[in-house]
Amino acid sequence: MSADTTYPPSDAMASGAHADKAKYDEMYAQSVSDPEGFWREHGQRVDWIKPYSKVKDVSYAPGNVSIKWFEDGSLNVAANCIDRHLAERGDQTAIIWEPDSPEDEAQHITYNQLHHDVSKFSNVLKELGVGKGDRVVIYMPMIPQAAYAMLACARIGAIHSVVFAGFSADALAARVNGSEAKVVITADEAPRGGRNTPLKTNADTAFEKIEVDCKMLVVRRTGGDVPMTAGRDYWLHEVEETVSADCPPEEMNAEDPLFILYTSGSTGMPKGVVHTTGGYIVYASMTHQYTFDYHDGDIFWCTADVGWVTGHSYIVYGPLANGATTVMFEGVPTYPDAGRFWAVCQKHKVNQFYTAPTAIRALMGQGDEWVSKYDLSDLKVLGTVGEPINPEAWNWYHEVVGGGNVPIVDTWWQTETGGHLLTPLPGATTTKPGSATLPFFGIQPVILEPTTGEEINDTAAEGVLCMKDSWPAQMRTVWGDHERFEKTYFADYKNYYFTGDGCRRDEDGYYWITGRVDDVINVSGHRMGTAEVESALVAHPKVAESAVVGYPHDIKGQGIYAYVTLMGGEEPSEELRKELETWVRSEIGPIAKPDLIQWAPGLPKTRSGKIMRRILRKIAEDDFGALGDTSTLADPSVVDDLIENRMNK
Ligand code: WT7
Repeated sequence: MSADTTYPPSDAMASGAHADKAKYDEMYAQSVSDPEGFWREHGQRVDWIKPYSKVKDVSYAPGNVSIKWFEDGSLNVAANCIDRHLAERGDQTAIIWEPDSPEDEAQHITYNQLHHDVSKFSNVLKELGVGKGDRVVIYMPMIPQAAYAMLACARIGAIHSVVFAGFSADALAARVNGSEAKVVITADEAPRGGRNTPLKTNADTAFEKIEVDCKMLVVRRTGGDVPMTAGRDYWLHEVEETVSADCPPEEMNAEDPLFILYTSGSTGMPKGVVHTTGGYIVYASMTHQYTFDYHDGDIFWCTADVGWVTGHSYIVYGPLANGATTVMFEGVPTYPDAGRFWAVCQKHKVNQFYTAPTAIRALMGQGDEWVSKYDLSDLKVLGTVGEPINPEAWNWYHEVVGGGNVPIVDTWWQTETGGHLLTPLPGATTTKPGSATLPFFGIQPVILEPTTGEEINDTAAEGVLCMKDSWPAQMRTVWGDHERFEKTYFADYKNYYFTGDGCRRDEDGYYWITGRVDDVINVSGHRMGTAEVESALVAHPKVAESAVVGYPHDIKGQGIYAYVTLMGGEEPSEELRKELETWVRSEIGPIAKPDLIQWAPGLPKTRSGKIMRRILRKIAEDDFGALGDTSTLADPSVVDDLIENRMNK
């Protein structure tokens, strides 16, 4: 195949799919010419307690951003994910749980069992004093109880905030304080890749910095010995013995918050992205059905962690709202060996498989034999998410994993968008390796000229990616800081939602994401604010100043490159380098550990003291032939030193 080979849907796929090309064209046209009518109809895909009469009330106007969908309707998300399926599929498996070790047995949890366990869990939360509108932080391994915890919150109207178990105690404490949570749910230990992370111990450390009145609910996973603080810590299995298995779902307004999820931005500390109830569940379920062409009886596997939005929308909420069987995997792609993903696909007869380019690239490097050992004939759709996928990895995924005849959906979206915005549909869209292709129903992408903010109307265009209008799962605000919400997403380009991504639209109208245009980097599909890593570094007593940028990395997509200026009198050493790496891990978490640290006697600054990151990025990319104008620097000579002492990749 040549680099610009395109892949039309097969006839078989097109004829059996929820949407073929004609259907996509027709539905898309209606969704943008009559959004009210379109969403009035498709909002019905979930069960409402009180039906909505209003569909959409949205303003992107500067100083007055307000987003509401189905605002006079009421419903409960857990009832939509569980109760409404019981009559028809109570005995069907809702969750297949695959543990870290292949030696341990997988669990098949039916919708009936899910109903029982989530109801119990809900009553446990109530017992601990949690009510409607209260916040609950979930810091859990990838075990069924993580999903139960989310659904239990949804059932009683509490707002969950899942914190990825790979984040440090400090990061956990910051999120608990930021959301003023009443309870932190954790587990004794988290087994991953054959090693146990001491989650409860991390949580104990976090509690030293937690300033709000908060309890801890602990799930027994490994049975490892953990200290419990009386009056503060409770075992789930003990409290469960004292509560009933009957918990009627709380009636929630469509615009009541469902969850907060902290995500990194270009400035300052992570912000709490707020998603609400009605619009989110409509959109998560609809994208899950159409993007993956999910049909009743299919086995769906998204390999993300529930700590990220991908896990929220496509392990828990979207699939369960559709009555699907969703696989939840506790482990990692390379344990016990590089064939694990494919072993699990074979074992559970997975039909739709959804993972990140970084995992594909890592496995591609291990050789095709890890894939070809397994029977992957049940696969019908392969998905990717999180970062641009290079055509080489796309082709490997398509040829080696998919055997050349399974469609690939490269889904572009964000924590803020709640669900897919740009994506192929398997039966409708001709794919091009590396392109997230076309908008989902109701999505109106525009490419703006970055400096003037003018919309580029030619089909072929390059600039910043914005959205002209809202969709039901759009984030509503930043928790506790609506001004920051407006400033981050609606200030640079008036009357648009600004994604932070650069993008090219080709002559066929296909979208190609070119990467972030702000100070956010994408490390193995995880979003990291350079400002966060910098502030962790400068918190170290020996560091005077630091600037962090991304650089191209073969497996991770981008690596973290840190320029560090030490305090006067401090000397660079390998030991100090290690110390700083460990420091950042403990301040934020292992995903934030700098890949390269360059000792910088000085940083390139303008005369007004602003660090010129453009220059630092170029040096990190080894592209110092194109540094541009350095004449405005206070001391242009620092650049020569930085180039001379740049790190080898
Ligand atoms: C950023 C959002 C949403 C799930 C995972 C990441 C990048 C995401 C793609 C894709 C190119 C992508 C963008 C986006 N991104 N998917 N298919 N192709 N880039 O969520 O942590 O909120 O990060 O990830 O840069 O802005 P997130």
